[in-house]
Amino acid sequence: MSQELANLESEALNELASCADLDSLQSWYQKYLGRRGLLTQFMRRIGSLPPEERPAAGQAGNRLRELLEGEHAKREKQLQEQAVSLGLQRELVDVTLPGERPLAGRLHPVTRTLRRIYQIFAQMGFQVFRSREVETDEYNFGLLNMPPHHPARDMWDTFYISDDVVLRTHTSPGQIHAMRAFCPEPIRVILPGKCYRYEQVTARAEFMFHQVEGLAVGRSITLADLKGTMAAFARQMFGEQRRMRFRGSYFPFTEPSVEVDIDCILCGGKGCRVCKYTGWLEIAGAGMVHPVVLRNGGYDPEEFSGFAFGMGPERIAMLLYGIDDIRHFFANDLRFLEQFS
Ligand code: DAH
Repeated sequence: MSQELANLESEALNELASCADLDSLQSWYQKYLGRRGLLTQFMRRIGSLPPEERPAAGQAGNRLRELLEGEHAKREKQLQEQAVSLGLQRELVDVTLPGERPLAGRLHPVTRTLRRIYQIFAQMGFQVFRSREVETDEYNFGLLNMPPHHPARDMWDTFYISDDVVLRTHTSPGQIHAMRAFCPEPIRVILPGKCYRYEQVTARAEFMFHQVEGLAVGRSITLADLKGTMAAFARQMFGEQRRMRFRGSYFPFTEPSVEVDIDCILCGGKGCRVCKYTGWLEIAGAGMVHPVVLRNGGYDPEEFSGFAFGMGPERIAMLLYGIDDIRHFFANDLRFLEQFS
């Protein structure tokens, strides 16, 4: 009997020592001290011993149970502490490692240029007026003094959505929207946005690009106001030293019409590849709003006059940043886009 208990004791203690985690510790407990455990079974058999052997066997059994319970509790505490410190080790953070730089987005060079343009014109009292990219033929051409079959329509290669709906080829139809929205009040707005042309894509031409249109309507606006506004803009955008010239031109919606040049920002007017050795860069088309257009906007041309202009922010960005191919803007190449911040 006592031999059996001695064997049970050494077997149980050996096995306990090799329990490496809380799961195996639990199985160990079941095996020796559980309801069907080996020691429990031993205790149950005491009743079948001769009466004189029972007290000693019972005491020995109880002592062993106490011993094993005590050892089990110690081992359990050890294993729990081990589990906690393992967890802590696994979660250890090395605060000396260099941090990961969060990826910062950047503004597209056209967005940057547009915002600069808004700023400059805002100082002169122009507010931003937005209008639709999908236009009727009437707004894109007709109301701008180009009735159907007018030869000037050839100036714009047009994406037709249907017989009378187009993707706007310029921001000028926004002039009509603005006039109809503001009439009979005076107007000072710029109209930025995307335009579309059915064009062969080259280094100089895209089928989608931006324009910023300008429009001022009032009671005594003259060509001198247009010149002053353009000059103030050019000096802030391209530098205080800029010189300008206005060349007579033709647009159906202005009379007279001009093209606005600044002296080349690269060579200062001496002549280079960018200005094609003319010394001048064209930055805008402009003019005095044609009486027919004023009337289409709701204004009486006997009482009101106005000036308008249109310019291309991609072209301006190309000049400012020295970009030689307009296709870079919408190629979505990060190596290009990351250069602007
Ligand atoms: N809409 C013209 C174009 O796309 C640019 C332009 C010229 C706009 C003269 C104007 C203007 O407002 O007065 O080529």
